[in-house]
Amino acid sequence: MELNEISKDTAEIAVASTGPAKKVFLKTYGCQMNVYDSQRMSDALAADGYVATDAIDDADLVLLNTCHIREKAAEKVYSELGRMRDMKAERAKVGREMVIGVAGCVAQAEGREIIRRSPAVDLVIGPQTYHRLPEALRKVRGGEKVVETDYALEDKFDHLPQPKRADVISRGVTAFLTVQEGCDKFCTFCVVPYTRGSEVSRSVAQIIAEAEKLAEAGVREVTLLGQNVNAWHGIGPDGSEWGLGRLLFRLAEIPGLARLRYTTSHPRDMDDELIAAHRDLPSLMPYLHLPVQSGSDRILKAMNRKHTAADYLRLIERIRNVRPDIAMSGDFIVGFPGETDADFEATMELVRAVDYALAFSFKYSPRPGTPGADMKNHVAENVKDERLQRLQALLLDQQRAFGTSLVGKTVEVLIEKPGRQAGQIVGRSPWLQPVILDETAGEIGDIIRARITGTGHASLFAERA
Ligand code: 5AD
Ligand code: SF4
Repeated sequence: MELNEISKDTAEIAVASTGPAKKVFLKTYGCQMNVYDSQRMSDALAADGYVATDAIDDADLVLLNTCHIREKAAEKVYSELGRMRDMKAERAKVGREMVIGVAGCVAQAEGREIIRRSPAVDLVIGPQTYHRLPEALRKVRGGEKVVETDYALEDKFDHLPQPKRADVISRGVTAFLTVQEGCDKFCTFCVVPYTRGSEVSRSVAQIIAEAEKLAEAGVREVTLLGQNVNAWHGIGPDGSEWGLGRLLFRLAEIPGLARLRYTTSHPRDMDDELIAAHRDLPSLMPYLHLPVQSGSDRILKAMNRKHTAADYLRLIERIRNVRPDIAMSGDFIVGFPGETDADFEATMELVRAVDYALAFSFKYSPRPGTPGADMKNHVAENVKDERLQRLQALLLDQQRAFGTSLVGKTVEVLIEKPGRQAGQIVGRSPWLQPVILDETAGEIGDIIRARITGTGHASLFAERA
């Protein structure tokens, strides 16, 4: 065949390649970092010609961005894959293709095992290699099953495309920005050091550039993300070593960025400069998620948390001394191996002492490969249930009391999006509560002063002050 002869087949291929864009349906499980990662995968796929769709039926590629933190989260993925296998088979009958990919922490932890358990899966890709997604999909289209779970030598952030301005705008006036990934703490219950790897900090220059781009596109609030965000460190433009506090001081100078947050922190990494940032930066929101997991020193030791309950309480006192309006948030695990009634009561005592604005609590879930899973004296499920119920009732009381304490006060609200009901808009208080207002109160992206008039289920009602 002549080289320049266009056969019927190649002509059809040429038409197909300029035809409708391929569509990707991305489903995100788990933490905020997965939300951020899904956006970055979406950006990488957009550069490769994919457009996002909300309708799984329309999608040529379905990607699940998964969570491995507790057994329930990981098992959800397999039941979803079961449904997708049937969908893929239906499609095949009418000659349509559907590529199934599993990304995130289950991908990293289970690798090829996912394809063994769910043969309909075409691609397994871990969090450190998202920049290789387009390449991996080319291999899949060539008929390969692809498993990409090596830790890449290159920095994925140097290779992932920056989001387009229009995409940033469509994602709203608040944004996540990963500054740190992985964890070296090795709490004995936790899979993160195995799924996300050891601690890596992104460079100051990369972070500032990304934050500036977000601000230029109209983002008003940035939440810095890291599994151990306050362990972030980097070299500043002055050549000195910066910690998260110093970084926050720098980010606070970016025009347009009115609000800064960070999550999730470890008590051992709250240094003086970070506490000073809470004292000195009006844009650093007075809300701190600082997980403690347990109030019992014996259990904290078994969890390898490397601090005591008293250390934690002293730390909160120091932070409250410089920022009295700070609202505390935390995470708790009940029923860690060996937890006695007295240990659990110590947790309840600590919760009463701190008085949380919002907190998350879980039954201990043994994770394969972690030291906790091999410990003796696992707690019976019914005991875990009973403890969780008691803890959650106390935490809910505190959360409600915090909401009620705001009624009649005037607070600043960042307006984020239209409300569920016509005529309403929803904003956010400095303490992360959704605030429901009349739509005339302001435009999306405005920060307005609003008087809190009442409380709803985890939300507040307000009117423009
Ligand atoms: N079982 C139950 N909860 C866990 N968490 C982490 N690992 C486990 C586990 N194996 C909780 C911790 C952590 C939060 C993100 O999830 O409280 O702070
Ligand atoms: Fe897991 Fe957090 Fe402990 Fe790291 S510090 S091991 S991410 S619970």
